[in-house]
Amino acid sequence: MSRVLLGISGGIAAYKACELVRLLVRAGHEVRVVATPHALEFVSPLALQALSGHPLRSELFSLSEEDRISHIELADWAEVFAVAPATANLLAKLANGLADDLLTTVALATQAPLVVAPAMNVNMFDHPATQENLERLAKRGARLVGPGTGELACGWTGAGRLVDLEAIVGAIERAGSSDDLRGEVVLLSAGPTAEPIDPVRVLTNRSSGRMGFALAEAAARRGAEVVLVAGPVAQPTPAGVERVDVETAREMQDAVLGSLERATIAIFSAAVADYSVERPTASKLKRESSESLTLRLVRNPDILGQVIERRRGQTVVGFAAETEDLLANARAKLERKGCDLIVANDVSRSDIGFDVSENEVAIVGPAPEQVVEVPRRSKREVAERILDRVLEVRRG
Ligand code: PMT
Repeated sequence: MSRVLLGISGGIAAYKACELVRLLVRAGHEVRVVATPHALEFVSPLALQALSGHPLRSELFSLSEEDRISHIELADWAEVFAVAPATANLLAKLANGLADDLLTTVALATQAPLVVAPAMNVNMFDHPATQENLERLAKRGARLVGPGTGELACGWTGAGRLVDLEAIVGAIERAGSSDDLRGEVVLLSAGPTAEPIDPVRVLTNRSSGRMGFALAEAAARRGAEVVLVAGPVAQPTPAGVERVDVETAREMQDAVLGSLERATIAIFSAAVADYSVERPTASKLKRESSESLTLRLVRNPDILGQVIERRRGQTVVGFAAETEDLLANARAKLERKGCDLIVANDVSRSDIGFDVSENEVAIVGPAPEQVVEVPRRSKREVAERILDRVLEVRRG
């Protein structure tokens, strides 16, 4: 149970806040609500007050409000501060540290983890300013949940719906118990490998490392010690993460096996090249030297397979990059490789998978009913769901 301070900003989705308060209270949390004056155009203060069991706060300076608890006391009281819905305007204020009303003042004063559930018109969401604001908030550790995709109240279709309330409750609960991976050592692989052809050319793939880095960031935030073996990517190292940079599959293998013994959880999201060039040349291949060029490739080591052979009690999670029959192929891979879970994603789609900020996955366990489908979400959220599932497996 956590003390949840719920901030509501002024968008049409504010009407869903009553149900969100009800779900949080039903889950055993103590909830206080701060709403912007615009939010109260969409939702009744009386309803929020009745459902939370606490006076609703909206004004920064008000003598008339029954509960005189100051904004600092409110900020200190919160164990989790969640803003749902968060409008584009509110995101801009939060990202820039503005404090011109009670909600934003509390946001600046509180030390509680921040959960943000954006909801707005799709074009406002896609606007670079909004995306930059979200990026800034995420970099500061805010947990972004949603938005969902679909038909919007404004008539447009796309990203901008307030995400399912259950997902918001889940994000709030995770934020309130952010130490659930303390004591675990999480070994991760991320990004592509690059196999040299000559000193300047490589065989590689489109993996950006985003998925693996999101896992590393989430695991570290949740208290784990994290070792991240990263192929050549341009991602910043998440706070508190030990990063080992590698180029080739063989280097990745050495780094992974070198850290396996101390790991308790191992997750492999890297897109490892299955083949490398048998004899990379020491000097640059010359264009003039021949009309055609044949490269002889040899199979790379199966890193995941070697981990399975050497594991001592670690929970091992593989990824499956599939282009057809997602679930059937993922299950076959899980059985063939012998890991505890396989995270399957459809890499034939351009909106998820390789080199984009969102993913949609099925987390497949050994039994047919053990499939958790995670709909299209930011890789940060997908990472949280994967870690939730890993913890469930570890706790039996
Ligand atoms: O990096 P992003 O741009 O964010 O993209 C994320 C992703 C699409 C790369 C990621 O979500 C993903 O699907 N990663 C796995 C890609 C892959 O190589 O899948 P696979 O089905 O070929 O391999 C199965 C598993 O075996 C993977 O866990 C892989 O890391 C591992 N493997 C593969 C080959 C090899 N030689 N050794 C391995 O350990």
